[in-house]
Amino acid sequence: MQLSKRQFLASTAAALLAPGLLRASTGEITTLTAKKSMHQLAPDSYPETELWSFNSTAPGPELRLPKGGRLHRRLVNGLEEGTSIHWHGIRIDNAMDGVSGLTQDAVAPGAQFDYDFTVPDAGTYWYHAHNNSMEQVARGLYGPLIVEEAERPDIDAEHVLVLDDWRLTQTAEIDPDFAAPHDLSHAGRMGNYIATNATFDLKKTVKQHQRLRLRLINASNARIFSLTLQGLEGWIMAYDGMPLPSPERIEKEFILAPAQRMDLFVDVIAAQGEEAYLVRLDQDKGAAQVSFVVEGQGSSVRRDTPVVLPPNADPALNDIDSANRVTMKIEGGAMGSLSSAMLDGKNVSFRDMSSAGKYWAMAGNVGMPDTPLVDAGRGETVRISMVNESAFPHAMHLHGMHFREVMPDGSFGPLRDTYLLPGRETREIAFLADNPGKWLFHCHMLGHAAAGMMQWMRVA
Ligand code: C2O
Ligand code: CU
Repeated sequence: MQLSKRQFLASTAAALLAPGLLRASTGEITTLTAKKSMHQLAPDSYPETELWSFNSTAPGPELRLPKGGRLHRRLVNGLEEGTSIHWHGIRIDNAMDGVSGLTQDAVAPGAQFDYDFTVPDAGTYWYHAHNNSMEQVARGLYGPLIVEEAERPDIDAEHVLVLDDWRLTQTAEIDPDFAAPHDLSHAGRMGNYIATNATFDLKKTVKQHQRLRLRLINASNARIFSLTLQGLEGWIMAYDGMPLPSPERIEKEFILAPAQRMDLFVDVIAAQGEEAYLVRLDQDKGAAQVSFVVEGQGSSVRRDTPVVLPPNADPALNDIDSANRVTMKIEGGAMGSLSSAMLDGKNVSFRDMSSAGKYWAMAGNVGMPDTPLVDAGRGETVRISMVNESAFPHAMHLHGMHFREVMPDGSFGPLRDTYLLPGRETREIAFLADNPGKWLFHCHMLGHAAAGMMQWMRVA
């Protein structure tokens, strides 16, 4: 076959681009290969760490496309176990949601699967493995997914910052004890090596008075990051991809729970020769999560307060009073009072659950039952009252649709796809069931999900 000049140029250009730099254009398919790869994750005096990664990069390649664009990627499974990819936070066609065991079969070793969908909302999202997630995500199978606004906001630079707390052994291997009962029954698997973009003490060079857009993604299995700014001043512009109706000024620490994202606009206040920080608070102690080294001045004055980011579609929660209402208890874990729950169609005691590696129940079920937690008609508003009877916080994530917290006074919180539910508290969320399909609803502390905190909803 003779290649036309255009085809020839296109294929050469594709071959020259590193996978991480490929920009999606309509219809173009590129590959995400899940496989083992070596990385200098720990400081140089330690050996390299074997990760499971997409395209041998950590985090996986940044996928970036315009709002309304088409994402077309072939997952090739080079692992020794099944996998799939979930596109976290995207209001997606159900068949592309990537949940092994619910929306597709796990892709077998050596096999492949084509994901092909459009991205309706601008914002900061991420993709990650969704089979044996507690292990596959902790080993590195995730990456950022950035959907750009039609018009670029007024900023000088942008940084995508993926936060993770890896758990490494003395020889810098990923600690293989994923199902440790203490982790599963308490706060989840906490790491001992906290990095940003798989780099310890990440540094970025900036100029005074520059405005930066920071896209924060918490990819950790269980760690709730408490963050603050130093030498920077700024605003929260969006949660979980969805712009706030007005920017929220950052005046104290802010929380980023597992799987949550946040878009910040921050102005560099620190002067030349100084450092500014994204600070992580660990039990009252501050540590540098990211250092910004100030070299020179971008301009002599700061910009004005930012204007809001253009809204994405905002599903109206109109018939809130006649909504489909569900109360869902969350029970279990250490220091809980769960005595028994349904597991595989049988009522079992907490002790029998524990010996099967299960510690949690949602609405009386351990793991996904055959019947959905909610059966919603398309267009119906659904309200879920989450009664957390356990002692631990949970990062509750709904696939396919964003929701809002319903405040006690009837007002609504911001649109989110992952909500941090405090221990021993009750909160209510509501969403418009406008996306047909089977949608997972689970705790994004991935060990909790594996140990029982997994339900699903049907929208028909
Ligand atoms: Cu981010 Cu069900 O996942
Ligand atoms: Cu949880």
